[in-house]
Amino acid sequence: MADQISHDYDTTMLDMLQIIWGEGYLSPGGPQAVREIVAGIDLAGKRVLDIGCGIGGLDEMLVELGASHVTAVDVAAPLIALARRRVADPRIAFEVIEPEQALPFANASFDVVFTKDAWLHVIDKRALLGEVHRVLKPGGRLAGGDWMKGPEPFSADMLYFIELEGIPYHPTTLAEYGLMLHQLGFEDVKLVDINAWYRDLARQELARLKGELFGVMTEKLGAEARDHFVEDWRMLTVVLDKGELRPARLWARKP
Ligand SMILES: C[S@@+](CC[C@H](N)C(=O)[O-])C[C@H]1O[C@@H](n2cnc3c(N)ncnc32)[C@H](O)[C@@H]1O
Repeated sequence: MADQISHDYDTTMLDMLQIIWGEGYLSPGGPQAVREIVAGIDLAGKRVLDIGCGIGGLDEMLVELGASHVTAVDVAAPLIALARRRVADPRIAFEVIEPEQALPFANASFDVVFTKDAWLHVIDKRALLGEVHRVLKPGGRLAGGDWMKGPEPFSADMLYFIELEGIPYHPTTLAEYGLMLHQLGFEDVKLVDINAWYRDLARQELARLKGELFGVMTEKLGAEARDHFVEDWRMLTVVLDKGELRPARLWARKP
């Protein structure tokens, strides 16, 4: 059994996610996904806040794309410690934050708030979005991605998938995100469902786990964890195909 370095993402999970998604990345799409999320936003000279940064691969990409400073925050202290060991760049500051609490930043501190596939773990998204609004400068942009759910209650398949994942899932619908963003006074709200994109990619990922990555998974994770993740990915393809899990992107601007 692997060391438990974090309540949610243990070392086995971190190894697994990086085998499939690349070093420093705990979500799908790699550097290209970061590029797509910030496309059309000039990051040059901008101060960016990344909420739910994991181990920092995306933050390295944000500075590569021109951000002058990235404050990268996560609730998991072990992941922040790992991010600090991985990334030694004075333009990136990693900080631990408390879950479901006000962000420890002054009003109007950031030009851009970025996030990727982390807010599904947040219970009170309205409060978080209110905080995003507060810490953004006037004219500041929210640019992110998250894993949404479909409109129906979770099926037995979805509950089994969440059990296999072993981390807390509190996804909402993309429509609910849109409603909250409008109610909070954001403008230029743009929401894009990318379920179809990930449905295809996850199927390719499952094939790679059973094929070219089988050996490295066995070596790094052991047979038991390898088999667990192959089953996890099989169920990922099932809930994506059923439309119950719906990765999406979202953009908005604070007036
Ligand atoms: C799937 S990982 C994505 C990490 C990173 N954004 C990436 O794409 O590599 C989800 C992250 O959300 C973090 N997280 C969980 N609950 C959170 C919360 N309430 N606020 C912010 N981040 C949270 C986890 O610790 C984890 O690092």
